[in-house]
Amino acid sequence: MHIFLYGPPGTGKSTIGKLIARNLKLPFIDLDCVIETEAGMSIPQIMEQQGESVFRDLETTVLKNLAGEKESVIALGGGALLREENRAFVESQGKVVLLMSDVETLFQRLNEGSNNRPLLAGDMRAKLTSLLEKRSEHYASFPLNVHVNGNPIEHNTHKVQVALGWHHLSAMGEYDAVVGRVEQIGELLLTRGLQNLILVTDENMVKLHAEKVMTALQGSGYQLKLITIPAGEQHKNLESVAVLWRSFLEHGLDRESSVIALGGGVISDLSGFASATYMRGINWIGIPTTLLSMVDASLGGKTGLDLPEGKNLIGSFYPPKLVLADPSLLLTLPEAELISGMAEVVKHGIISDPELFELCSRGLNWVKANLEEVVKRAMAVKIKIIEEDPYERGIRAKLNLGHTVGHAVELVSRFKLRHGEAVAIGTVIEAKYAERIGIASKGLADEIAATMSALGLPISIPEEMPREEIISIMKVDKKKTAKAIRFALPVEIGKVELVEVTDLEDVLE
Ligand SMILES: NC(=O)c1ccc[n+]([C@@H]2O[C@H](COP(=O)([O-])OP(=O)(O)OC[C@H]3O[C@@H](n4cnc5c(N)ncnc54)[C@H](O)[C@@H]3O)[C@@H](O)[C@H]2O)c1
Repeated sequence: MHIFLYGPPGTGKSTIGKLIARNLKLPFIDLDCVIETEAGMSIPQIMEQQGESVFRDLETTVLKNLAGEKESVIALGGGALLREENRAFVESQGKVVLLMSDVETLFQRLNEGSNNRPLLAGDMRAKLTSLLEKRSEHYASFPLNVHVNGNPIEHNTHKVQVALGWHHLSAMGEYDAVVGRVEQIGELLLTRGLQNLILVTDENMVKLHAEKVMTALQGSGYQLKLITIPAGEQHKNLESVAVLWRSFLEHGLDRESSVIALGGGVISDLSGFASATYMRGINWIGIPTTLLSMVDASLGGKTGLDLPEGKNLIGSFYPPKLVLADPSLLLTLPEAELISGMAEVVKHGIISDPELFELCSRGLNWVKANLEEVVKRAMAVKIKIIEEDPYERGIRAKLNLGHTVGHAVELVSRFKLRHGEAVAIGTVIEAKYAERIGIASKGLADEIAATMSALGLPISIPEEMPREEIISIMKVDKKKTAKAIRFALPVEIGKVELVEVTDLEDVLE
């Protein structure tokens, strides 16, 4: 699967393309350079001596030769997809992202460099304006587009990568996290040389999405086995792990085999842990199916299981080989699960993406209609943090925003409140506390509460819930570290600070 960067001249396709290729550890190809090499002359010379139509023919030939190339980032010429044939070809070969900018910015950029663009020779500003007008409908027809006005190149590159939904993680293991379609899974696994597959899923997913995944894999020549385990947190235990280990043995999995985890956080935690421990570690791949698992559980390499004594008490850091998140799988997710997952998305917005927070505040209907954008943005926040601090020695603790109070509230509710619901309450309470101690701007808690409410999430501790019990659960956490609890508290939308709190009564007030 290739990544194609397209758009008018001057949008920085080559510069951004090179940076994305470096980030994703992929080769970079500049289509115009390949054309010049093939033709043995520069593009202005081809245009001048042979005319635009010969140039366009060359473009089509060179483009089609890319079919045999391995996964690459490819910068296309500004008119390369005007031919329907070329467009259909690149869309069948990967993701196309259109870079756009206003005329003035394009003019400034092109004016700085050496202008060897024959279509813009002469009065460049006028030529650019007319080129953009002529192609406006064409460029607007690309669904994945990013405006790259005047920002520093690293900022624009990050924006493009978030829009692409493709990241390479290397702080703990090396793997790609891709937002795409399950139909692409076979190709993605073949490219990564993964083989001898087994699909682990739960009893709900086996009815809803397992067949799609199996068909896609069979289409790429894979024959795979399937293991189904019961759904639900109550099955995230050692018995389920033992079922997986035995099934791996029965199916003859060896150290070269790969486990595909298709499901929510329970399935990825269990499959990841079983993979980490079977024969001292085999490959695993995540295909998350809940919002929570797409933006949180499948990323970061934490795997594990519950004991009767508590959640997630046993586990290991064991990163997958690939994560493929397909937002269309969320269409079957019960609404309550989607809403619950949104608490983590809002949390990610508060931590470092104010635009994501603003999008969330538009409410549940907007979110439902724009799941792909929501997933891409929220994933990017988590990835940035875990890449900086994979083993939770510092800033990864920011992801605990809302969780210190939320976790206690979830426990006291005896899990009647979903995790996300408890986190929503926790985030609002912690924001109120941050305001009281003067580190957050006034009104921040109300702003967060309004967004949580717009998504259908609760914002206050249920009346009947005993406050002392919540505090005593937080105190148990405190004893574990034998000192103050480190809270991740919001300072403003887009900024969170880690603060040591000793007096827990003050938090709930
Ligand atoms: N490893 C980590 O870093 C990490 C982070 C956060 C949470 N977690 C763990 O994740 C777990 C919670 O994950 P979860 O919320 O995804 O729960 P889950 O895996 O239990 O899934 C929730 C329910 O939704 C069903 N479901 C899943 N996808 C569906 C779909 N597309 N359509 C219809 N139904 C679907 C499942 O069968 C299940 O019944 C907890 O155990 C938590 O500890 C782990």
